[in-house]
Amino acid sequence: MSLKDASPYPFGAALSISKMKNTEIYNQVVKAELNSITAENAMKMSNLAPSAINKYSWTDADFFVDYAEANHMRVHGHCLVWHNSLPSWVNSYNGTKAEWIELLRNYITTVVTRYKGRIASWDVVNEALIDNGTPRQTIWLTKIGWEYVELAFRFAHEADPDAVLFYNDYGQEYSKVKLAAINDTVKNLVKRGVPIHGIGLQMLTNINQSAQNMVDAITQTAETGLVVHVSELDVALNRDKKPEYVINPTDVATQKSRYRSIAAAMCQLPESQSWGITTWGVGDPDSWLKGSPDFPLLFDMNYKPKSCYQGVHEAFAALK
Ligand code: XIL
Repeated sequence: MSLKDASPYPFGAALSISKMKNTEIYNQVVKAELNSITAENAMKMSNLAPSAINKYSWTDADFFVDYAEANHMRVHGHCLVWHNSLPSWVNSYNGTKAEWIELLRNYITTVVTRYKGRIASWDVVNEALIDNGTPRQTIWLTKIGWEYVELAFRFAHEADPDAVLFYNDYGQEYSKVKLAAINDTVKNLVKRGVPIHGIGLQMLTNINQSAQNMVDAITQTAETGLVVHVSELDVALNRDKKPEYVINPTDVATQKSRYRSIAAAMCQLPESQSWGITTWGVGDPDSWLKGSPDFPLLFDMNYKPKSCYQGVHEAFAALK
């Protein structure tokens, strides 16, 4: 059985436009196994508005949404506001606070409106906190102030009131301080009426991280009452980044067990709170971890299912 058929929640991956266009085996696996997709890069600001204010490049994002619709998949939009992936015209933009707010409003409104009704959910703000739980120093913070977070959600909600809006971040599984800070920050915003509906846990992790920490991250995030998305999952084997690393059975077994624990923890959430799991890439050739062999994904270098793929299935089978 495929992941999407066995899973009680949507199961997806981040996809690259060039592989969607050129790699047959990749497309076969995506279409057979997944029912939710996130653009790995195609919907980031430097891709959508690379060269100048109010000059958009929609081709790749349009292709992505068309592909999802043709294959009956959900699209998770990633990401509207992020300190990385800023086009140079933003970095050099000269404006007052009011003009920066207008720039943010205009960008978010334009992008969300274009795909209104076709993109189910958005990572509205990505990585706004650092590991000690304080605001990250970004251009948005400098030019607008912390208010930028709340404004971003309000602008996105105005543009598409039906879209499910996420605050997305990493580190919940390795830092209890950051986990609590993210959840408290989001809860406080929600209490003040800011339209945030969910929290995304990137969960770009490795086998050295304990299963308990991964499960706690999911469970405690769910205690906010908001929707939970494991949004960028990978479980690297080669945590020491050794160039000579060779896959071995012990590490493979740990990887399987970690994937099973994460999939099982998501199964414990009420259906209304589970946005599902998205892996950051499909097979090991797609991993964003470059420079050392890591093998963090569910399919191998030839896009054949790995032990960890079976681990996810075991979590689903245990539900029956
Ligand atoms: C990464 C992509 O995978 C890379 O191809 C790109 O060069 C940089 O961004 N957290 C995120 C993702 O939210 O958008 C990042 O994706 C990985 C870390």
